Amino acid sequence: MKPKVLVTREVFDEVLEYLSQHFEVTSNQSDVPFNPETLAVRLSDKQGALITLSDRIDEALLARCAKLKAVCNIAVGYNNIDLEACTKAKVMATNTPGVLDDTTGDFTWTLILSTARRLTEAESYLRKGEWDGWKLKQFLGLDVHHATLGIFGLGRIGQVVARRAVGFEMNVIYHDVRRAAPEVEQVCRAGFVNKDELLAQADIVTLHVPYSSVTHHLIGKQELERMKPSAILINASRGGVVDDAALISALRSGTIAGAGLDVFENEPKFNPGFLPLKNVVLAPHIASSSKATRLKMAMLAAQNLVAALTGEKPPNLLNPAGNPH
Ligand code: DGY
Repeated sequence: MKPKVLVTREVFDEVLEYLSQHFEVTSNQSDVPFNPETLAVRLSDKQGALITLSDRIDEALLARCAKLKAVCNIAVGYNNIDLEACTKAKVMATNTPGVLDDTTGDFTWTLILSTARRLTEAESYLRKGEWDGWKLKQFLGLDVHHATLGIFGLGRIGQVVARRAVGFEMNVIYHDVRRAAPEVEQVCRAGFVNKDELLAQADIVTLHVPYSSVTHHLIGKQELERMKPSAILINASRGGVVDDAALISALRSGTIAGAGLDVFENEPKFNPGFLPLKNVVLAPHIASSSKATRLKMAMLAAQNLVAALTGEKPPNLLNPAGNPH
């Protein structure tokens, strides 16, 4: 008998076909997120699950899923999974590092350029029929070329963003909990600074850290006040890394010039205070969303699930102590 697995959200047909070669698959192709109760019921007789960041895997859920051996996230970030609880319950947890770095880096640049040059604000003005001709002082933006780019977190995605800055002849500075190896700094042409120096010097501050209790509200009122009034903030990492209420008030009062955001606190019910603001570019958590990359992410998660349930070590195992093999 094939092991039973649950796919909690819609995935590509190729992924379902691959999983079906190994498992009896139940999938949620209607794509309506399961609430915690439904998720627990659907998972109670399954050995494995392909999950997304909208599925919370915690102690309460695991207690109701005695057969569960593996949860495989279709995401590199895994703050939706309580790793300690998984390890205690001997459930393997995996993520999808590596395959989305370039695409997420590209989208970070989409946010940088559109925020600096006020693209969505200008487009909405044009669409509303308000454009009555060229004006010298119309939609004056921030120059990206030769500006100082400040990167929080020089991990895989932070490095992609830094490498793309070369074309804009930028001065790149970064801060991280650990200083990067000299070779990495050299390839990225990035200089290490402390948090306050980064905030004070950067024209563009971009965040590439995972969400945790340590990075919760890494950027709040005080940090925003340390930034230049002409600077912009970019967040394509995780909601909660920025204090959204503090950011809204900084954008309203002109403490900083603008923000480009792909992620929010309490997604998808984000703070409505962002909506009337013209100096913010908003996107619905799509930084990794190219067709090729989302397929790679889902396939990698499926490969992790197959490995986990066929006695192999999953390539992206997050909790080796949760591996019974
Ligand atoms: C990730 O992989 O963590 C992304 O946020 C999902 O798109």
